[in-house]
Amino acid sequence: MYSRKDFLKTSIAGLVPVSFSGILKPKKFTGTKPVVISTWKTAKNANKAAWSVLSKGGYALDAVEKGVKVEEANPKNSTVGYGGRPDRDGNVTLDACVMDEKGDCGSVMYLENMMHPVSVARKVMTDTPHSILVGAGAKKFALESGFKEEDLLTEESKKAWKKWLEKEDYNPEINVENHDTIGMLALDEKGRISGACTTSGAAWKMNGRVGDSPIIGSGLFIDPKIGGAVATGLGEEVIKTAGSHLVVEMMRAGHSPEEACKIAVERIIERNPDNKKGIQVAYIALNVDGAFGGYSIQDGFDAVVTNTDGQRVQPMNFLV
Ligand code: GLY
Repeated sequence: MYSRKDFLKTSIAGLVPVSFSGILKPKKFTGTKPVVISTWKTAKNANKAAWSVLSKGGYALDAVEKGVKVEEANPKNSTVGYGGRPDRDGNVTLDACVMDEKGDCGSVMYLENMMHPVSVARKVMTDTPHSILVGAGAKKFALESGFKEEDLLTEESKKAWKKWLEKEDYNPEINVENHDTIGMLALDEKGRISGACTTSGAAWKMNGRVGDSPIIGSGLFIDPKIGGAVATGLGEEVIKTAGSHLVVEMMRAGHSPEEACKIAVERIIERNPDNKKGIQVAYIALNVDGAFGGYSIQDGFDAVVTNTDGQRVQPMNFLV
């Protein structure tokens, strides 16, 4: 009698040549290293700073920290650090995190008066037994670690906030208040991958609101064997789908970085079939072989990529 065991034997035997022929073998997506990729074309100077580390054979984590610090200190960037728009009560509150090639991470949430939350997040990772510090505790830790208090509410932000108070209409505009993060992924010459994500969050948010950016697995995720992903856009939707973790898991399942990002934004639209035009979320992803990609819900999302071919702004494909 032809048993189930026989069937499995012949099936498996039959599969071997198929897998050698490449049909079952997962496709390998490769690029070059070193490489750095960041959300939004506003990250050109940030990428230059990161590249100054990577091009000298430096460490990916140093590169992403140095890179995103450029935007944290840029008063013209209204969605990150100094010059970031405040919450509806006039407080600039910052969220940031880092994750390294070992899968270690550090994060700060609702941090006030610190120019470089990303550096505080890195210190949480390296100098504490914890992964996340929030609010007053995060600030206390920053001060004890030697960071100086600074006023981050610029005159321009104050003016914009006063104007918002006239109507108090909370309706984040696509690709404006909504493009509220710099996320950066880097792979260095030695193959170490790291990421950073930093933001002042959604403009005019409720006091106490924390977005996706400092939440490991939502705003940023790195798997040392697979690669990393970062998110930008409406943080609440990224949190509800554990977006960056999803992207990395899709790469693990054999998808290209771009396909993985597309699946993650599709997941958001599946949850919001009647609000396709009202939400912007975008992801970028980089695998440990240097292949990268991105995808967004709406048009208008781009990334800055820097590698040995130079630096370029890459518009990303979109869903709606
Ligand atoms: N994506 C950043 C935030 O929603 O705060």
